[in-house]
Amino acid sequence: MKILGILGSHRSDGVTKMMMDTVLSGVQAPNTTETVYLEDFPFKPDQGDQKDPVLDQLEQKMLESDVWIIAAPTYWGGLAGKMKDFFDCMRQRLVRFDHDGGTHPDRFKDKHYLSITDCYTGAFENWVTGVTDQSFRTIDKVMSAAGVIKIHELVLTNTWGMKELPENKKQACLKWGHRLNSVKKRDDSTLKRYIELFFMVAVMALLTMGIQVGLRLVSTADFWWRYASFVVIFYVLLGCILHFFTVVKHRRR
Ligand SMILES: Cc1cc2nc3c(=O)[nH]c(=O)nc-3n(C[C@H](O)[C@H](O)[C@H](O)COP(=O)(O)O)c2cc1C
Repeated sequence: MKILGILGSHRSDGVTKMMMDTVLSGVQAPNTTETVYLEDFPFKPDQGDQKDPVLDQLEQKMLESDVWIIAAPTYWGGLAGKMKDFFDCMRQRLVRFDHDGGTHPDRFKDKHYLSITDCYTGAFENWVTGVTDQSFRTIDKVMSAAGVIKIHELVLTNTWGMKELPENKKQACLKWGHRLNSVKKRDDSTLKRYIELFFMVAVMALLTMGIQVGLRLVSTADFWWRYASFVVIFYVLLGCILHFFTVVKHRRR
């Protein structure tokens, strides 16, 4: 598996780079890593059939890798311009367009990403006001359109004058770096999660209805029939609502 770090910061030696490098340092052989500092790549938007050769190069690196570390600071309350420009220029290549101009996941579908951003703002203020929210939202929106699966996001606050990463952040980056070693190529856990959900519903319903019977709140007549029909109907409705909020609604963002 190959992990590609993409850095979209003004500084190639700043804390954003340190976060990205620390995550990458957790990656072990036979997995490999590569980093791209976007400032070193003078890409331009494609002009019709005239494809930008620098974008070709970057696109190739993205196609060859399985996991992307998207690392960019928060500038003026949003995603740093270089990363945003990169996403803008890559738009035609990241997705497939239908006859209405609607976008659909294409060649990057089922790859994975981990996002990193940081800000001068302190942890408490960021927690309350969400200074870094917009940066993550922009990354998520692009990746979601391209069908790329999110692994995790890492945030660093209080970066003013910071020369090295605080120990807790270093450990968090390393932990997630280690986890990248076991990322599956395809996210096939959805079916597993729905099966687990079915058993959770079945157990909880049995406990609830058992307690009702024990407390003589309901009769025991047709217990198993009522239990089975309740589990199936409740599970189907719950499955529909979860699908709507996690898949359908997410895609609209
Ligand atoms: C142009 C610019 C704009 C920034 N805007 C914000 C901001 O709006 N809010 C904030 O908390 N930090 C802001 N920062 C701080 C960055 O998010 C980042 O934490 C800092 O530049 C350290 O990253 P680096 O060492 O990788 O360069 C800004 C920094 C720069 C250079």
